[in-house]
Amino acid sequence: MTKKKILKTLYEKKDEYIPVEEFVNETGKSQKEVENEFLTLEDEGYIINYSKSGYRLIKTPNLLLPYEVKRELKTNFIGHDIHYFKEVDSTNDVAKYLAEEGAEEGTIVIAEIQNRGKGRRGKTWISPPGGVWMSIILRPDIPPFNAPQLTLVTGVAVAETLQKECNLDVGIKWPNDILIGNKKVCGILTEVNASIEKVNYVVVGIGIDMNVDVPLFPPDLQKGATSLKNELNTEINGAILVQKFLLEFETIYNEFKAGKFPEILKEWRSLSKTIGNNVEVRTRGKTIRGEAVGINKEGILILELEDGSLRKIISGECLHINNS
Ligand code: BTN
Repeated sequence: MTKKKILKTLYEKKDEYIPVEEFVNETGKSQKEVENEFLTLEDEGYIINYSKSGYRLIKTPNLLLPYEVKRELKTNFIGHDIHYFKEVDSTNDVAKYLAEEGAEEGTIVIAEIQNRGKGRRGKTWISPPGGVWMSIILRPDIPPFNAPQLTLVTGVAVAETLQKECNLDVGIKWPNDILIGNKKVCGILTEVNASIEKVNYVVVGIGIDMNVDVPLFPPDLQKGATSLKNELNTEINGAILVQKFLLEFETIYNEFKAGKFPEILKEWRSLSKTIGNNVEVRTRGKTIRGEAVGINKEGILILELEDGSLRKIISGECLHINNS
């Protein structure tokens, strides 16, 4: 709380030196305690100038610190409770733990680095500094068989945020890879906890390669991956990107809860880079080739095979064979 008050004052008077007495009055803490708070702010990466006249904020670190994310957050409930880690194994695992403990809908877990980031199909998700590694806890009152639709809902929210904020050629590759051109920039991992009749909670994990240096990825991942920094040749402000995403997500999620999934699916289809492409899908040891002709409302991919027959694909690894 003290830190929040100190930062509020620093931001309000960004261009001036503020006397220490002002922070003492503002926080009700002693001068020593205020000085210690300034030391922790510096540890977190804030650059603060000191002079005889007081303190002045020079630079904010480009990190996903809760105070920075909440500062201009315009949502009604998503991201109001933020659990932040400099380093963690997997934000999805922490979110599942918090959900079991009763965390509220909209709680998010966010980390600068994941040491055991999880991808789909049991893969590892490489999560170095510079990414947005984040999980959202949801408690929608929906039939459990509709819960996987939340992956599509999240895909639309990510794609629309990146399109609006970065003005890039963003699309979705089935089932839930967000692409720029034909390279992956974001993956989504949805984990559902439900009984037969009720969803207990859903954790939606989002990994955006924001300011990640792609050449630092393992060689086999480099070819198919990109980052926003790579595409734009400049660093993105992470806290602002997260604020914009959370607002977009909340808007679309509210529509979803209001029964507007068909409209969201329409948007998903218009963002899809898979429909109309020749694809190869690897699924349970088999490889199936065909033209992707559609996606039904469960998110199932419809392929037209060479002999003209249609095949439904529930899950798998999809390659665009025209352009990837
Ligand atoms: C994929 O394979 O495309 C899904 C990747 C999902 C990665 C995100 S990063 C935040 C959250 N925590 C995890 O361990 N995984 C998800």
